[in-house]
Amino acid sequence: MTHDPQLARLGLFDARVPRYTSYPTAPHFGASVDAGDFTSWIEAVPEGSQISLYVHVPFCRRLCWFCACRTQGTTSNDPVNAYVEMLLLELAMLARHLPRGVSLSRLHWGGGTPTLLDPERMTRLAEAIFRVAPMAAEGEFSVEIDPNEIDDPRLDALAAAGMNRASIGVQDFDPMIQKAIGREQSYELTRDVVERIRARGIASLNADILYGLPHQTGPRIADSVQKLLTLSPDRVALYGYAHVPWMSRRQQMIPSDTMPTPQERLDLFETARQLFLWDGYREIGIDHFARPEDRMARAHAAGRLRRNFQGYTDDTSPVLIGIGASSISRFPQGFAQNAAATAAHVKAIREGRFSVHKGHRFSGEDTLRARIIEALMCDFAVRREELLANYATTDARLDELFAAAQATFGEMVRVTDEGFFIPEKARPLTRMIARAFDAYDSAQARHSAAI
Ligand SMILES: C[S@@+](CC[C@H](N)C(=O)[O-])C[C@H]1O[C@@H](n2cnc3c(N)ncnc32)[C@H](O)[C@@H]1O
Ligand code: SF4
Repeated sequence: MTHDPQLARLGLFDARVPRYTSYPTAPHFGASVDAGDFTSWIEAVPEGSQISLYVHVPFCRRLCWFCACRTQGTTSNDPVNAYVEMLLLELAMLARHLPRGVSLSRLHWGGGTPTLLDPERMTRLAEAIFRVAPMAAEGEFSVEIDPNEIDDPRLDALAAAGMNRASIGVQDFDPMIQKAIGREQSYELTRDVVERIRARGIASLNADILYGLPHQTGPRIADSVQKLLTLSPDRVALYGYAHVPWMSRRQQMIPSDTMPTPQERLDLFETARQLFLWDGYREIGIDHFARPEDRMARAHAAGRLRRNFQGYTDDTSPVLIGIGASSISRFPQGFAQNAAATAAHVKAIREGRFSVHKGHRFSGEDTLRARIIEALMCDFAVRREELLANYATTDARLDELFAAAQATFGEMVRVTDEGFFIPEKARPLTRMIARAFDAYDSAQARHSAAI
């Protein structure tokens, strides 16, 4: 496949460009937000409103070499069990501050590997959450499931607690690639877990796979995607493998010379993309695919797709509260992040304090720029009408912002009376174009990515 050489020139292959699951991005959070702000923001949640809740479990039975997530390996259940007790205390603290009548539009358990919890603890945790805030009608309760770390009693407990969407990690089915990334998981095991999830009436299934892995070639990724299609997931996240061994030390186990080149990465994405499209999936944003009847696909078609720390979502709640170590909460006032180190978070909660130690308070053009970046990441388009109706801005100011981005990206973007658009040929550049609206990103970093 040949690609426009402009793509490379404009910074397509720069691994430092954020994925914009928030704006500003977490590295720009500072000490101006503390536990006191977090408490008052919780207390300001409107009575009777719907919020989202994220529960982070930062433990795994084994540490896959490719994984860049913040998590710790443990062969013993003791740290996980102690962590669950801490989550119960944290929920009790949350209940003391949350106004009455709040319900959950979304509940997500992520990690790490939340399925390390034993069935009894899963049930206790879910019951404790629903005592703080019950699921709203039409609410979605999703759990990240490692197919290697799940069994029938756990699936029974999750189904009984109301899980209605499961997200499984696949990455790739090729045995050679699996060996190279330290994550062995047969197709048969994955298929078996999918069948057991569906047998419990959990209708909605998401699968994560990766492109850009060591030894990955066109035929190999095509084979993996075809195997995945036999499982008929409702949604697929096709993430670009981020090889950042200087940040994630276990990635040093993966020799850098086995990695595909940047051009090959683009081809791998395109091969997988075409297979999903041929099979009838809708393309969602930069890296998701969904069956047309899936909620995310319907939200996308209706212009209601949003982006949060878990990636794309059809959830429009203005408040997302994250519990557990390193979790980030979002409020109309700003972001608040819990202590990243599990020990520091646990200590604070045991002492009866929230562990929030940094964040960001929205000011100036933050929310306007956040919406522009979110709209580009979701729809490849920003409409002036929506911005003028919802933010304190003017047509002249939008002209300035759009012109500044166009100065870098030229005909790779389109500015009209209606708004700012990323044409199809430039979509691989979406994160780079979004960065042109990021006031916190340093000019130096932008310059180095643009040449
Ligand atoms: C936090 S993990 C949880 C999944 C679960 N523990 C499992 O292993 O199945 C969620 C997803 O992040 C993605 N991920 C992890 N490391 C990544 C990396 N270096 N680059 C891109 N995606 C990555 C993987 O696709 C993974 O399934
Ligand atoms: S991919 Fe999942 S199981 Fe593997 S280290 Fe990352 S979070 Fe843990």
